[in-house]
Amino acid sequence: MKFKQLFSLKKINWKKFLKTGVSAGKFFSQKGNNFENLLKRYAIYSPEQTTVRLAPTKRMFSNTQLRFISSGLQARVYKIRDMDWVVKEGRWDLDLNFFGDTKLPLSASLSSKLLSLFSFTFLPSRREILRQYKAYLKFVQYFGYFTNPNDYYHPNLELIYNAQKNIRDSLLFYKDDLESYYKIKLNPKIDELLVSDTKYHNFLPKEYLLIGQSISPENKNKDTFFIVQQFIKGNLLHDEDIQKLDIKIRKQMVLLIYLILLMNMQIHIVPDTRPRYPILQIGNWLMKTDNIIVNNDNVKFIDTRWFWDTKANFIKKGAVIPSMIINLAKLNINEILKNV
Ligand SMILES: Nc1ncnc2c1ncn2[C@@H]1O[C@H](COP(=O)(O)OP(=O)(O)OP(=O)(O)O)[C@@H](O)[C@H]1O
Ligand SMILES: [Mg+2]
Repeated sequence: MKFKQLFSLKKINWKKFLKTGVSAGKFFSQKGNNFENLLKRYAIYSPEQTTVRLAPTKRMFSNTQLRFISSGLQARVYKIRDMDWVVKEGRWDLDLNFFGDTKLPLSASLSSKLLSLFSFTFLPSRREILRQYKAYLKFVQYFGYFTNPNDYYHPNLELIYNAQKNIRDSLLFYKDDLESYYKIKLNPKIDELLVSDTKYHNFLPKEYLLIGQSISPENKNKDTFFIVQQFIKGNLLHDEDIQKLDIKIRKQMVLLIYLILLMNMQIHIVPDTRPRYPILQIGNWLMKTDNIIVNNDNVKFIDTRWFWDTKANFIKKGAVIPSMIINLAKLNINEILKNV
């Protein structure tokens, strides 16, 4: 499918989503569906600069109660009270403290000079937000599977879904290519898995991207991104022992790793699966991540923004990081496959 098609947005009839005759004040005070209607109305659906409109984020969030969850490298994350949403506000005070958890010396390939270049590159300028959204729209095709209209909202959902279906229906077809590209031999058990129902697992929560005025004092009224994402119950992958999880979950993990390998082979981007303690867990830059949540039914990728573009310049490429992730993916996929 043509990636460009995703950006040519159909005209949206917002009246369809918004109840007419409701005053703005009342509107903003209503919860649940109405909040989502506002998200639909003000979200960004294309990485083209010309389509960007600022969302009235201050007003939108003024009637919600936000409970701080965590402050990641890129975003501050809040849970919206009484709603199943989290809000991630892009940080202008981004400190790429990759190694903040430890006093170990920096490895030669990630010097502090390199780290400051990193942080500068990833500040939430409009350009950077859209660059990351463009990568996200590709990532969505691999890791999402939106069969149900409630799973996701995008004006071009049908095109996205068709791309997703194409990818998931050709998983086994690409196995030979994948094995020769990575010089690995996958455990033959994978064949069955790649044609079973597991292959249609949706790894992605519903989410909306807004650009608007910051709400945190740290950002001092600068414009930034807001990712409003479905709240996912469960534990961080970091805190789970994969071998003790249900077989259904282990199969989903195999698929997740397979998709990492496939996406890198085909379009040269690698999602970020950094571990909680990047240096201490340097050999575990996949299974010890806080970017994946696991519950009884699902594996979900909740950090949907940081991608290493392995064809980009040295900084955006992330130095040695993507190849480290790929090597761990190769190792772990067969390890998990032993017991599925
Ligand atoms: N949809 C969600 N549901 C539940 N918890 C979430 C969700 N999204 C994020 N969190 C929590 O917030 C933390 C940080 O989220 P996220 O990884 O998206 O932010 P980040 O700034 O990109 O972090 P980093 O760059 O450090 O990985 C997660 O590890 C998780 O604990
Ligand atoms: Mg994260």
